[in-house]
Amino acid sequence: MFIPSQEKMLITSNDDFLLLKELRNELDRNLVYMGLPGPLINDLLTWSEVLSDCICFEKNEKEKDQIIRSLYISELTKRLRFKVICADVEEYLINRMQYYDTPTFDLVNLDYFGPPIVLTKDGSSNRVSSWEKLFTFQTERKRSEPFVLFITTSVRNKDEGEIDKMLEDMKHEAPDILIPHNAPGYEHLKMKLLIPYLLRSAASREKWDLELKYCHTYLSKTSRMVHFAFRAEPSQSRLVTRHKQSLIDISNLDMLDITSNYSD
Ligand SMILES: C[S@@+](CC[C@H](N)C(=O)[O-])C[C@H]1O[C@@H](n2cnc3c(N)ncnc32)[C@H](O)[C@@H]1O
Repeated sequence: MFIPSQEKMLITSNDDFLLLKELRNELDRNLVYMGLPGPLINDLLTWSEVLSDCICFEKNEKEKDQIIRSLYISELTKRLRFKVICADVEEYLINRMQYYDTPTFDLVNLDYFGPPIVLTKDGSSNRVSSWEKLFTFQTERKRSEPFVLFITTSVRNKDEGEIDKMLEDMKHEAPDILIPHNAPGYEHLKMKLLIPYLLRSAASREKWDLELKYCHTYLSKTSRMVHFAFRAEPSQSRLVTRHKQSLIDISNLDMLDITSNYSD
């Protein structure tokens, strides 16, 4: 069973919670959550005072049952509305979300734990396709308010050089960008460029401006992890895509290494 690390719990209760409180105040209502709460529902417990509806995904049957138990034991079910769906969130976003009768999401917590990009045999990535579908969903449901997107992944990857190729491609957009060393120990810095790069293009195709608010790294028991907090806003321009934040801006953002004595 997944048990969150102390470092991750600190990020959830400090920076992430602060960002959500700001969004809650801005929208002047509690937030609709969509994400992966895991069996111990640490994120839902931490953020419950700013939440309203929660659409929870869990791919494993046993963990899904534990999520439901945790919800009842915590008594969150008395205050919030829940839907727990036993499915792969990527498959669901790609094939089924468009048929699902739900409000749009104020907060999406894609806290995978696994690698960011898993390529299928045909060279595509369901994870990346599902991010695109998330923006499509928000646009098709005519969402006109900003939303927050958290992505947490390990830095381990399953690609065949595509990531390094993408990093090289970034040089066309930003010739001065510094590409991290291609050596063990630098993977989190590669992810710092790669994940915003992939998400920005998915967002802008659906007319969302994406801002990377912060990015952190920490060591879990099994792997180095990266955590990103984005704010998406409906694009002002319907015709041209102009990113508010350049790749150089992103590359200049500090990636904090979070340890167990972190406080914001
Ligand atoms: C890292 S844990 C979630 C932790 C939680 N958000 C917290 O704050 O403590 C990830 C959970 O999501 C599940 N999961 C991972 N990838 C998934 C996917 N693609 N679809 C559905 N569930 C997934 C895992 O089985 C695990 O229970």
